[in-house]
Amino acid sequence: MTGPEDLWRAAVEARSKAHARYSRFAVGCALRTEGGGVHLGANIENASFPEGWCAETSAIAHMIMAAQGDADRRIAELVVVADHHPPLTPCGGCRQRLAEFGSASTMVHGADLEAIRASWTLAELLPAAFSLEGDG
Ligand code: THU
Repeated sequence: MTGPEDLWRAAVEARSKAHARYSRFAVGCALRTEGGGVHLGANIENASFPEGWCAETSAIAHMIMAAQGDADRRIAELVVVADHHPPLTPCGGCRQRLAEFGSASTMVHGADLEAIRASWTLAELLPAAFSLEGDG
């Protein structure tokens, strides 16, 4: 295990809440904010398939609703868990959502049911990210 074992355990637990009756692919996510708070998410699918959403998105929603200050809305690191090899990485849409509340150095850990298997910075997963920050 190279990475935050507490987040991995929390993500495995979160995965058990997945509503993945269409894909049968359950995903769990646990993120830690810069303020130290931990928030969980699972994927929640829908009979109208495109209306489902990812575990990372659920965790972001929990983070935002629990936040009391700026540091509670900034993502320091997260673990995403699925029973899959190679370890999954966040989808493109979730990378953009993570970028909204993370930074180039936010750590993203991909895990299976036994351990964290790989780690990336958000900048590695989403280079040249779209942002409205700047002087344009
Ligand atoms: N999924 C996630 O929840 N997170 C990811 O990082 C990749 C994919 C979900 C979406 C869908 O419910 C299922 O996995 C199969 O794509």
